[in-house]
Parts: sequence; structure tokens; C-alpha cells
Amino acid sequence: MPGLHNRVALVTGGAQGIGAAVASRLAADGAKVGVLDLNAALAQRTADEIVAAGGSARAFGADVTRREEVSAVVDELVGEFGGLHILVNNAGVLRDNLLFKMSDDDWSTVMNVHLGGAFICSQLAQRHMVEQRYGRIISMSSTSALGNRGQSNYSAAKAGLQGLTKTLAIELGPYGVTANAIAPGFIETAMTSATAQRIGMTIDSLRESVAAALPVRRGGLPADIANAAAFLAGEEAGYVTGQVLYVDGGSELV
Ligand code: NAI
Repeated sequence: MPGLHNRVALVTGGAQGIGAAVASRLAADGAKVGVLDLNAALAQRTADEIVAAGGSARAFGADVTRREEVSAVVDELVGEFGGLHILVNNAGVLRDNLLFKMSDDDWSTVMNVHLGGAFICSQLAQRHMVEQRYGRIISMSSTSALGNRGQSNYSAAKAGLQGLTKTLAIELGPYGVTANAIAPGFIETAMTSATAQRIGMTIDSLRESVAAALPVRRGGLPADIANAAAFLAGEEAGYVTGQVLYVDGGSELV
């Protein structure tokens, strides 16, 4: 029997990239999955692909920064699938700029989506998790949490997610809810294509230069993150909480 049978998951930013890979993997492992994304059409396509592969999924067009929209999604998901056991805070945007050029809007957009969105989604999800005495909250941090040129907003938000994760672990642990973060390194998605463009490289040359400097000598794929998320989402990971798992090909070692 698949490991996540009878579990219900909500993946934010689940329409594409890492979120879509995580949603598909959790569904393949037996979970019923809500795919939440600003891009409702793309979220629907991802949900359709999951269903075509034999899984259960439902798409939701919503903005993680809008409490009333997320609340409606959580209510519908719980109403339809009968609970909420796994939350993956994955929705994200980039507004990269050097500090001296960064606008207030670049700053607040990134803080609101990554950190504010994770706060809203976690708060709305934990009500059900605490009631069920079971839950798994997984948030996408980044190696950029350790600092990255041009990303003062993003690195602050991703470091903030690590602090949020540890506090959720402390507050929710007594109720059977774990909270962990995954910190991906370079993972090939639309987001890294945009980064390549910003720094004047092709995605192929960026991948090659990243890979050459990594102990594992390759760039990461969304499936690498989905594998880590599947572990943290499982019942067997119940003694793992408040952790930040770097899934980065060893980038912090070099
Ligand atoms: P992506 O850009 O391919 O996908 C992000 C998704 O989030 C999109 O579908 C977008 O529509 C959605 N989204 C954006 N704002 C939203 C909002 N307000 N409400 C709901 N949905 C929203 O990005 P990717 O690469 O798949 O990244 C996923 C997560 O992983 C992000 O949090 C990112 O910061 C993080 N990450 C990615 C890395 C990479 O190398 N690709 C490295 C480290 C972290």
C-alpha cells in the first residue's frame, strides 16, 4: 500500500517546477493532493496530469498572500477529501536586484509571497492538523538563505522560513505535527531560467558552470526535491522536526 494512502496534501505554487514535481510525487505515493497556484490554468493542467496517472488531485487558483482565498481553498479541500495532513509551502517569486537598486515593492512582494504566504497557509492548515493530532509542514527555503548577491529580499525571506519552521516545530510538536524546511540549491525550473537570463547566461551554460563546481557534478532536478519532500511528508519521518535539509548537490561544502 502506498505510504501516503489516506493522507491529504496541499502544495502551494504547485502548478509547475518544484511544486508540480512534489504534488505528483505525493499523489504517486497515495496522497490526495490540492494543487494551489496563482496560475489556475496551469494548476489545472498539473492536477489533470496527476489524475491521468491514476492519482487524486484538485486544482485551486489562489494567491497565498490572500488569507480569504487560502481559507476558502483549505475549507474546500478538507470538505472534499476529509482532512489536511501535509502542507508544502512552495509558492515563490523572484524580484532580484542589488541592494542599492531594490525597490520597496521588490522587497515586500518577495517577503509577502514566500514568508507571509507560508505564515498564512501554515496558520490555516494547523487548525486541522492539531485537531487530527497529525500533520507535516514542509517549507521551501533555499541555499540563498545563507546569502546571495542580488537577493537581499529573497535570502531574508528564505532565512525567515527557517526560523518560522523551527518555531512551528516547537509549537505544534505536542500535537503530532512536524515542521521542516528543504533548502534546494540550483534546481532547473522556470525560476532558474529567469536567473540565467538576468545574469546574461543561457540555462545550459548556467547548469554546466553550477555542475562543475559541485561535488556531485550535476545540476538538480525538481524530482530531487520531490524525493526529499516525500520522505519528510511520510509517517516514518515523525521524529524529524525543525530541520533544514539542504538538497543542493553539496554546494555548501565547496
Ligand atoms: P517556479 O517559478 O517554477 O514556480 C513557482 C510557482 O509559484 C509558480 O507556479 C507561480 O505561479 C506560483 N506562485 C507565485 N506566487 C504565488 C502566489 N502569490 N500564490 C500562489 N502561487 C504563487 O519556481 P520553482 O523553481 O519551482 O521554485 C519553487 C520554490 O522553490 C520557490 O519557493 C523557490 O523559491 C524555491 N527554490 C527554488 C530553487 C530553484 O533552483 N529552482 C532553489 C531554491 C529554492
